[in-house]
Amino acid sequence: MACSHVPPQPDRRSFIAKAASIVIGGIVAVVPALAGLLVLFDPLRRKSETTGAVFVGSLNALPENSPPRKFEIVATRVDAWNRTPNVPVGSVYLQRTGPNEVRALNTVCPHAGCAVGYRGGQDIFFCPCHNSSFSRDGKILDPKSPSPRALDELPVEIRHGTEIWVKFRNFRKGVPDKIPV
Ligand code: FES
Repeated sequence: MACSHVPPQPDRRSFIAKAASIVIGGIVAVVPALAGLLVLFDPLRRKSETTGAVFVGSLNALPENSPPRKFEIVATRVDAWNRTPNVPVGSVYLQRTGPNEVRALNTVCPHAGCAVGYRGGQDIFFCPCHNSSFSRDGKILDPKSPSPRALDELPVEIRHGTEIWVKFRNFRKGVPDKIPV
């Protein structure tokens, strides 16, 4: 006599429910972990930067037609996971170009990052590393200049009549375009 015993078939619906619960459980576990990793590593995607405009000095310290004057920039440095207030982040040459107008030039040479000096006798900016020279307004003087662009001019605001505020930035070196870093 043939055996009529049929092995029990797996319950199809319960199999699908189990599979779905495993998939959903996996998603529930992985999504918060990914979100946590994004938050943890987010500062690495941010660039080092100072925040906003920085008070640099008073208009009274810059008589009209006086030579460019160097000022240190003290600001908040935001860098990966750190936010450090009141640290030197660079320097600028300020020039009074009108009763209420000031030009600010970053003192870093756009070629390779050396410090540019001002030569009063010639009224030019000069970089001693590879001899780039710039006019008083920051333009390249020598067509064979190693610097691929003019000195980096920065936005200036005059607040409360006499306060000079500069939006300080550094830019990528060795390229013709001003690319903030
Ligand atoms: S770093 Fe200034 S000319 Fe090269």
